[in-house]
Amino acid sequence: MITRLARLACAVLAASSVAAATVVRPNADTDAASSRPNLFLPASVPVSRSAGDAEHDSRSASALNKFKVLDEFLEALRVMQDDYFEPWLGQWPKAIDWTAAVIGTHVAGALSSLSQGLSAEEGIKEKENMITTYFSQLLSYYFGQDAFAIRNEAYDDMLWVVLGWLEAVQFIDFHTTLYHQSTAEDDSNVNRAGPGLHNQSWYGNLWTPAFSHRARIFWDIASQGWDNKLCGGGMTWNPRLEPYKNAITNELFIAASTSMYLYFPGDTNNSPFLNTHDPLASDALASGANSTGSGDPHNPQHLQAALSGYFWLQHSDMKNKLGLFVDGFHISGWKNISNPNTRCDQRNDMVYTYNQGVLLTGQIGLWKVTGDQRFLREGHELIQSVINATGYDLFREKPIDNIADLKPGQLPPWRGLGRAGVLEDVCDVGGQCSQNSQTFKGIFFHHLTAFCAPLDMAYFKTQPTESEAGSLAREFYERTARDHRAACSSYIGWLRHNVDAALLTKDADGKFGMWWTAGLLKINPTSLDAATLSDAFTLESNSVDYRTYGVPNDNTWVSSPILAQPPTSPMREQPLYEGGNQAPLTGRRTKHAPAEDINDSADAGTSDPRTEDDHHPTDPNNRGRGRTVETQGGGLAVLRCLWELTQRAADL
Ligand SMILES: *[C@@H]1O[C@H](CO)[C@@H](O)[C@H](O)[C@H]1NC(C)=O
Ligand SMILES: *[C@@H]1O[C@H](CO)[C@@H](O)[C@H](O)[C@H]1NC(C)=O
Ligand SMILES: *[C@@H]1O[C@H](CO)[C@@H](O)[C@H](O)[C@H]1NC(C)=O
Ligand SMILES: *[C@@H]1O[C@H](CO)[C@@H](O)[C@H](O)[C@H]1NC(C)=O
Ligand SMILES: *[C@@H]1O[C@H](CO)[C@@H](O)[C@H](O)[C@H]1NC(C)=O
Repeated sequence: MITRLARLACAVLAASSVAAATVVRPNADTDAASSRPNLFLPASVPVSRSAGDAEHDSRSASALNKFKVLDEFLEALRVMQDDYFEPWLGQWPKAIDWTAAVIGTHVAGALSSLSQGLSAEEGIKEKENMITTYFSQLLSYYFGQDAFAIRNEAYDDMLWVVLGWLEAVQFIDFHTTLYHQSTAEDDSNVNRAGPGLHNQSWYGNLWTPAFSHRARIFWDIASQGWDNKLCGGGMTWNPRLEPYKNAITNELFIAASTSMYLYFPGDTNNSPFLNTHDPLASDALASGANSTGSGDPHNPQHLQAALSGYFWLQHSDMKNKLGLFVDGFHISGWKNISNPNTRCDQRNDMVYTYNQGVLLTGQIGLWKVTGDQRFLREGHELIQSVINATGYDLFREKPIDNIADLKPGQLPPWRGLGRAGVLEDVCDVGGQCSQNSQTFKGIFFHHLTAFCAPLDMAYFKTQPTESEAGSLAREFYERTARDHRAACSSYIGWLRHNVDAALLTKDADGKFGMWWTAGLLKINPTSLDAATLSDAFTLESNSVDYRTYGVPNDNTWVSSPILAQPPTSPMREQPLYEGGNQAPLTGRRTKHAPAEDINDSADAGTSDPRTEDDHHPTDPNNRGRGRTVETQGGGLAVLRCLWELTQRAADL
């Protein structure tokens, strides 16, 4: 298969480089771009470089060229689906509900990239076959997804489902257009059969109503997590725990609501709202859902929800001094009957990669809808904060720390969200990531891809252009869009650096590891002794890594802590946590439920994804959970991001 893919890739690239070479760029554009500062980049990053030079090959030590990126992207997808997906179950059986929803989103996103990226004249049949293969798997996951279980999980779990199926709807729209273009060309040659044969819509459209219906149901249920009584608004994370308003649930709500407004095509299916006696529809959440009006496309309610979420989050004081989102807030003393506090005042300063990503989908969407530049500016600021916090200098296009100067076994310093220019979660270095945290880096890169995706002009097409004001607005929009694309392409060097690192964690089966930095530094796990690990990162003292070690059994998190349990030991000394909510598809557990989070004795070890072959002591990525479908999703997402941004840069 891979040779055929490679041939396809070559055909595509040949076609696209010819196209790029024959484009005559108006001089006015490049002059204007280089003589004024970019709206979204600090003055220290040269605009001329970011605008024109997409390859950076002279500056970068990377061995990756465009062919290799596409090849590696296709190969990462193939391994994920061949080795981790089970068609007869319609599932990645070792994933848990929410991580499977994210993996499904990666597949839908990859399908859009294939549909658009492989628009070669040659190889149409191969391309269609590849798309049919992955689309049929996504379709079987629609039935394999445990939608009824997810309804009883936390609000963030539900919103991953919304984003996933809206991603699939966008792919279908997208591919339908390209499919019709290619079949129209076919039809002009073969005119013997009647329109009945040739005038068919792409079959994926058959599934748009189903996908849209599921997105709508889950948006409706999740939106009940919005609460104005505490903290002046915002989404609550989990209805079964003490009130905790966290970045992820709010970012998801913003992204999902914006995407509902933009991409949800409407839904006339009233199940399960019609029959409230239907036992399947009788859980508390579904019966509270409001079917009035929620089935309409471009529903102002969705836009309003996104904007409320955005302004609440921006004023929530959830960013640290590096410009990164911390995890969230509890409310101190809110059960005090004589004087209950309702303010979000007890901050968990834990920093995760995924909290820096999901908002980007909301920001690009809100800009498309409103034309307000602040959404783009704040998105680029966030991305640049992340890049800085990996210890990467965007201006000099290299890590700030000299890797060559390290002594054997020495780690480069932690820079806030990574080291040596590579994105890292705190759990990476010790090999302690849970199934949750193993999913995080892929999420960041999925949403970075969305932020920098090609812009459709839909919003501005609806604006009047005849008037002077209209044409000024259009000019402003075009300048904004140009600077946005240029800023996105200035991230390519950093992306390439991360892709290089991630690729070096692949094992002989093409499976990606979790800790990408290990690939770059060629770290031997025996050098990671307790002393090295204890200096491996710094965190604010009030940081609780509950996504890695589970929800603490204390009054802050749980309304009735289980007193029989010994008090939780300091988090970094806790043993590697397995089982509990990490168990794959067994017993329909409610994720995040504290009693089960605490009691992991029942099925500890059953979800250990490693096989005997994987226990190579020299590979730090074999520690802990090792390589999983979630880490594969991470590798796929960073490759797709580099591939997409490189394509965009070629269009500049
Ligand atoms: C093809 O389908 C489109 C949309 O359904 C329709 O408008 C058009 O008349 C059809 N053309 C033929 C030749 O049947
Ligand atoms: C249902 O939605 C409609 C339209 O948005 C709204 O006017 C109404 O108050 C909602 N009802 C409930 C019970 O939430
Ligand atoms: C960039 O990171 C360094 C630490 O590596 C930090 O001191 C600095 O404040 C950061 N800059 C910004 C703009 O966040
Ligand atoms: C509850 O609030 C009252 C009034 O502000 C205060 O005096 C008391 O100390 C609080 N109780 C606790 C347990 O914090
Ligand atoms: C934890 O699991 C063990 C083994 O299944 C069981 O005996 C024990 O009662 C459980 N404890 C709690 C608090 O659920």
